[in-house]
Amino acid sequence: KQTLQKTNQEAREKLELTLPKERGFLGPALFFYQGFWCPSRILHNVVTFQQHFEGRDTDVILATKPKSGTTWLKSLVYSILNRTRFTEMDHPLLTKNPHELAPFLEFNVYSEKNEGLPDLSNISPPRLFSTHLPYGPLPESIQGSKCRIVYMGRNPYDTFVSAWKFVTGHNPELHLEVTIEDFLGHFLRGAEAFGPHWEHVLGYWKESLGRPNKVLFIKYEDMKENGTREMKRLAEFVGCGFSQEEDRDGVIDRILKLCSLSNLKELEVNKTGKYMPSVKNKLFFRKGEVGDWVNHLNPSMVERIDQMMKEKFEGSGLEF
Ligand code: A3P
Repeated sequence: KQTLQKTNQEAREKLELTLPKERGFLGPALFFYQGFWCPSRILHNVVTFQQHFEGRDTDVILATKPKSGTTWLKSLVYSILNRTRFTEMDHPLLTKNPHELAPFLEFNVYSEKNEGLPDLSNISPPRLFSTHLPYGPLPESIQGSKCRIVYMGRNPYDTFVSAWKFVTGHNPELHLEVTIEDFLGHFLRGAEAFGPHWEHVLGYWKESLGRPNKVLFIKYEDMKENGTREMKRLAEFVGCGFSQEEDRDGVIDRILKLCSLSNLKELEVNKTGKYMPSVKNKLFFRKGEVGDWVNHLNPSMVERIDQMMKEKFEGSGLEF
């Protein structure tokens, strides 16, 4: 066992030495691995996930760039899939943070802190997992199987501001070391967790156009503006569309209400709980508005994001 650990350790060190490195904000460093900036503390989880995950046709994978509405998407899809199992009195969302109900493959399921590899074979279908990885590095058993991927994208202005608030909220001292201008520089260069932002979003966007039964692309803003329509798209896509009776009985509205920011934010678990040892649940629930960026970005910052967005998204058909 010791020899094996030593070999693993050597292989890791060797891999890390070959990868470009950047400063991290919520962890010690970022490594540029397979086209994205991977937080150093999960690099080896990612490798294990890539090597060992066996996707099934019935799996549902929720994919997002951080701060694009991951927590919301998890609560919505979990509630859609399990809508006949629970009532409003015993719903798991009342006592668990949404991240616990659709665990991250690279943070939780394949965490180095777990003993050995996880046994995922007994989870009844559809298994619900999540990831912040871009499309390209996803294991072949996800890309090649019929499992479905739901991606939530959000406009880059709000995503950037949300990330800034998350990072500085985590560590109130941080604003002493990095200004929002510096942070924007990192965002635009792509040197941030799971960045570059543009490639992340475009990767899933293109896949959703080419394989619409494989990847569903949902926008945070559309979910805000027309929740009922987007909920129907989501439910259809994951294979359990709402019946006419459910529609008539207000099932969609009830799920939207249960998963609303105002409801989740006020639950004890999300006010005082922690989801990982260093992550307070309350950090995932802030304003949840479209356009809050106007309160944080000056015209030159907006201009820089505009330019980059134009350059990267032009001709893709993707608009925010
Ligand atoms: P803001 O910082 O703009 O408020 P993620 O879940 O990917 O970390 O994204 C967090 C963002 O989603 C935060 O945005 C947060 O407030 C918002 N959010 C969290 N839960 C939400 C919900 N139930 N409905 C709408 N937005 C939500």
